[in-house]
Amino acid sequence: MNDMNNKMISAAEAEYVQVPETEPARQYYFIEKAKKHVEALKNELGRTPTCCVTTFGCQMNARDSEKLTGILRQTGYEIIENEEADFVIYNTCTVRDNANQRVYGRLGFINSMKRKNPHKRVALCGCMMQEPSVIEKIKKSYRFVDLIFGTHNIYKFAELLCTMFENEHMVIDIWKDTDKIVEDLPVERKYSFKSGINIMFGCNNFCSYCIVPYVRGRERSRKPEEIIKEIKNLVADGVVEVMLLGQNVNSYGKNLEEPISFAQLLTQIEKIEGLERIRFMTSHPKDLSDELIEVMKHSKKICRHLHLPLQSGSTRILQAMNRRYTKEQYLALAKKIRQEIPDISLTTDIIVGFPGETLEDVEETIDVIRQVEYDNAFTFIYSKRTGTPAAAMENQVPEEVVKEGFDKVLKTVQDMAKSRVSRLTGKVELALVEEINEQDSSFVTGRLSNNTIVHFPADASLIGKIVPVYLEECRGFYYVGRMTDM
Ligand code: 5AD
Ligand code: SF4
Repeated sequence: MNDMNNKMISAAEAEYVQVPETEPARQYYFIEKAKKHVEALKNELGRTPTCCVTTFGCQMNARDSEKLTGILRQTGYEIIENEEADFVIYNTCTVRDNANQRVYGRLGFINSMKRKNPHKRVALCGCMMQEPSVIEKIKKSYRFVDLIFGTHNIYKFAELLCTMFENEHMVIDIWKDTDKIVEDLPVERKYSFKSGINIMFGCNNFCSYCIVPYVRGRERSRKPEEIIKEIKNLVADGVVEVMLLGQNVNSYGKNLEEPISFAQLLTQIEKIEGLERIRFMTSHPKDLSDELIEVMKHSKKICRHLHLPLQSGSTRILQAMNRRYTKEQYLALAKKIRQEIPDISLTTDIIVGFPGETLEDVEETIDVIRQVEYDNAFTFIYSKRTGTPAAAMENQVPEEVVKEGFDKVLKTVQDMAKSRVSRLTGKVELALVEEINEQDSSFVTGRLSNNTIVHFPADASLIGKIVPVYLEECRGFYYVGRMTDM
């Protein structure tokens, strides 16, 4: 599962060569150097040192964690999923405040573990680290942390690891922004048969509630040929499903030297032999083109699922959110998508409690939920993020009003999804088998093209295979079924 190429230099060479200045050669040099540090630690401990990468937040972070794990594996660490490990890395999220609070909670717990294991090292990275106030707090209250880095310099993790090994005190390296994209570093995938692929980084939209543009920087697209090359390598390594990742995939390629649209990129990816399924996330409604709908409609590989964040159904609130579409425009877009691709599942994100939102505005949101008939909607309580325009708005909504609106939205979403998801009952659909069922090991868990989960009796030999499943019974958001013929 290692997407390692052969740019490695041997450990002996690393002693003598100058530190390369260009990437990724520089990082391969530091991987070799870090290997020696890990080897020395192994001799000291009398066993292979262990490490654990804990991920908070979105799929973007999950993919970043696979990059960290790829480097850690190369340097000789044993990867485990237990925070008792000798080296613990928290890849953080800051999109809502509760994500930050969870990290502080974990750090308190790690501190006591570190007292018992003096070899233990702790690193923090990800979006939360791009906030200066967070760094100040860690420097003051969590002095035991060994390494802190951000989202823009994650590619130099091997180099930072060496700096950490060579320093007693806290190492901090945070960049404000970058236009750099470093290709061809090792990655270790969590799943052998599916993978996330970054197609772009950052966001230029500045929705007024959102901290992402501040912590992930400006939009930069990877070159299509790099993306295609990566996917071809993944397919050769057993991957059948890819998830193309970007904060706003619909604006992919606009700023490349040779501009290309997201729909054109999809058309190229579709041609890759051996690739079975293509997913992508996230689409901004304002940039979703007719060209994309057309490509999806005729595609055999693009999954029948579109995540189309609504955020609010009230045009007034949408305007304050700087979303750049109205309720009517969103509804028209959803209608067009449903007309062109009738079997598609639509899912969405909703925020309740944005400054100035009244219960009438919430009713507008509920109206959109009813009209669009989402298969699922992730509903969030508005979280004030320092530095965003919305945080400075005076009309913050009282907690009880937010709670009332939130409960109403949640109830609507749940009722809607129940009837919507069940529409395939009695049908046969293809499912990609992802894992053994957590509750019952005689079952496996698979995913339909439209992203719905199905549990059915089968064994581990089917993991990674796409098989026909009879959808016997819908239980809310998922199905129970059995394997059958197509
Ligand atoms: N408060 C609550 N939810 C937020 N999101 C982004 N920023 C905030 C915030 N400040 C939600 C949006 C976005 C999803 C990833 O997180 O709904 O689509
Ligand atoms: Fe945040 Fe808006 Fe960018 Fe999504 S599109 S990451 S909500 S600013």
